[in-house]
Amino acid sequence: MKNKITQLQHKREQAFKGGGEHRIESQHKKGKLTARERLHFLLDEGSFEEIGMLVTHRSTDFGMEKEKYPGDGVITGYGNINGRLVYVFSQDFTVFGGSLSETHAEKICKIMDLALKNGAPVIGLNDSGGARIQEGVVSLGGYADIFYRNTLASGVVPQISAIMGPCAGGAVYSPAITDFILMVEHTSYMFVTGPNVVKTVTHEEVTSEELGGASAHSIKSGVTHFACENEIEAIDNIKKLLSYMPQNCEDVAPNLEYEARNETIPELNSILPENANQPYDIRDVINKVADEDSFFEVHKNFAENIVVGFARIAGRSIGIVANQPAFLAGVLDIKASTKAARFVRFCDCFNIPLLVFEDVPGFLPGTDQEWNGIIVNGAKLLYAFCEATVPRITVITRKAYGGAYDVMNSKHIGSDMNYAWPSAEIAVMGAKGAAEIIFKKEIASATDHNAKWLEKEKEYSDIFANPYRAAERGFIDEVIEPAETRIKLIKAFNMLQNKVVNQPRKKHGNIPL
Ligand code: COA
Repeated sequence: MKNKITQLQHKREQAFKGGGEHRIESQHKKGKLTARERLHFLLDEGSFEEIGMLVTHRSTDFGMEKEKYPGDGVITGYGNINGRLVYVFSQDFTVFGGSLSETHAEKICKIMDLALKNGAPVIGLNDSGGARIQEGVVSLGGYADIFYRNTLASGVVPQISAIMGPCAGGAVYSPAITDFILMVEHTSYMFVTGPNVVKTVTHEEVTSEELGGASAHSIKSGVTHFACENEIEAIDNIKKLLSYMPQNCEDVAPNLEYEARNETIPELNSILPENANQPYDIRDVINKVADEDSFFEVHKNFAENIVVGFARIAGRSIGIVANQPAFLAGVLDIKASTKAARFVRFCDCFNIPLLVFEDVPGFLPGTDQEWNGIIVNGAKLLYAFCEATVPRITVITRKAYGGAYDVMNSKHIGSDMNYAWPSAEIAVMGAKGAAEIIFKKEIASATDHNAKWLEKEKEYSDIFANPYRAAERGFIDEVIEPAETRIKLIKAFNMLQNKVVNQPRKKHGNIPL
C-alpha cells in the first residue's frame, strides 16, 4: 500500500507542476498568476475540491502521445466563495498554452453538468491559446459542447467569465454567452480574429491590446462588463458580483442584516440643479437612496448615458437601471438600450428586483442611430422590461419624454410602483419643441416670433412639465418628496416580495435581436 500511496502522491505532484517550472516562471514574468494561484485567491481557504486532476489527452498525432500533462491544461472542481458553493474551471496556460483539447473540454462540461444539476454558479477563468491545434475537429467539437451547456445553463445558474490571458477565435463564444465578463488590463485580450488576419483582410494595423484588450471591450464594444487593473481586482469583483446573486433561478439573493434607522434623506430635496437642462450625476442619487457603499456598477465604461448595477436597499439585493443626465443628457441610444436590456434580463432570470431612476429626454435622433437599428435595439429594452416578472419600481426624477417614458419601466408595461418627484416632467416632448410644432401657425403669424414662442412654451410647460397629469390618471402611484424616496422604496420592495406573475404559456418569446 505504501508504494501505491507514493505513486498517487507522485502523480499529484506532477499535476501541481502544470507545464513545468520554466513555463510557470514565464507566466509570472508576464504579470500573470498560474491557474492554481488564481483558484487559491478566488475560493475560501481549504474549500477547493479538484475533479479530474489526472485526466490526460488522447491525441496521438504529431507525437502528442509522448507529451502528456495530468489535468490537460485545465483545473476543474468546486469550492466555496463566502461559504456558498461554486463550480470553477481555470485554464492552465503552462500546459499547451491552455489550449482546449477534447478531454480539456470534457472536464469543463463535467463541472457544468454538475452545476446545472446542483444549482450553483459556474466561474470560468480563461487563459488559453484556443483550440488545441494538434487535435483538429475534436477540439472544435469540445468548444461546441461547452457552448451548448452555456446556453442550457443560461438563466438557470449564474455564469461568470474572467479573461486572464488570450481568448481568441471560437473560444470567445463561451464567455459571450455567460452573464458577466471581466477582463484584466494589458494581460488579456479577446477577438474573433487576431491582428495578423485583420491586417491581411482589412489592411488595418492594430495591436492585440488595441483590437481586443480590456479597454477596447469595456469602452467600445461593451463585450466586457469590467476592465480590472490586475487579476486580484478581477477576482475580488467576481466575489462581489456573486454576493448580489442567488445560487440559481429558483433561489433568491441573500439578504444582509439591516438595522432600521431614520430613512429620510433631506439632501435629496436639493440634489437636482435649479435649471432642468443642467446635468447632474445620477450616481449621487443612487448612492443616497441605496444602502451605504452598496452600489456596485456594472458596465461602467460603456454607454455611459445609462447606469446599471447592483445595490442593496435595507439589506435586499436589487438591480438598478438609471438614465444618466451627466452623459449625453441621459438620452437612450442603441448601446444604452442593449446594455440595459441585458442587465434587466439578468435580474429577471435570477429574481433580483428592479429599481429604475428615470430622467430621459427621449431616443437619440440621427442617421447613425436609425441606420444601425435604434428601432429594434430600443425595442430590446422595452421587451426586457415588459417580460420581467420580478418586483419593479420606477422613480421619475425629472424628464420622462416620449416613447422613452413608456420604455423606462412605465406602469403600462408592468411596473408595480411608479413614483415621481415634484420636478418630474412627463410629456410627449420638451416644452420648447412641443410649442414649435403645435403652435407653429400662431408663432409664424406673430409680430414677435420669439416672444410668442416663449409664451406658448410656457403654456405647454405649465400643463405638462409636472407629474400631476400622470398622477391624476394613476400612471404615477404617488408624487413624493425626494427626501422620502428611500423609505418609500424600502416599504414598496417589502410589499412586493411575494409577487407572482402568471404569463401566457409559450415556448419562449422572440425578443427583437
Ligand atoms: N494549440 C496547441 N498548443 C498551443 C496553442 C494551441 N492553440 N496555443 C499555444 N500553444 C502552445 C505553444 O505551442 C507553446 O508551447 P510550448 O510551451 O511547448 O512552447 C505554449 O502553448 C505557449 O505558447 P506561445 O506561443 O509560446 O505563447 P505566447 O504567449 O507567445 O502566445 C498565443 C500566445 C495564444 C498568442 C499563441 O500561442 C497563439 O497564437 N496560439 C495559437 C492561437 C490559435 O490560432 N488558436 C487556434 C484557433 S482558436
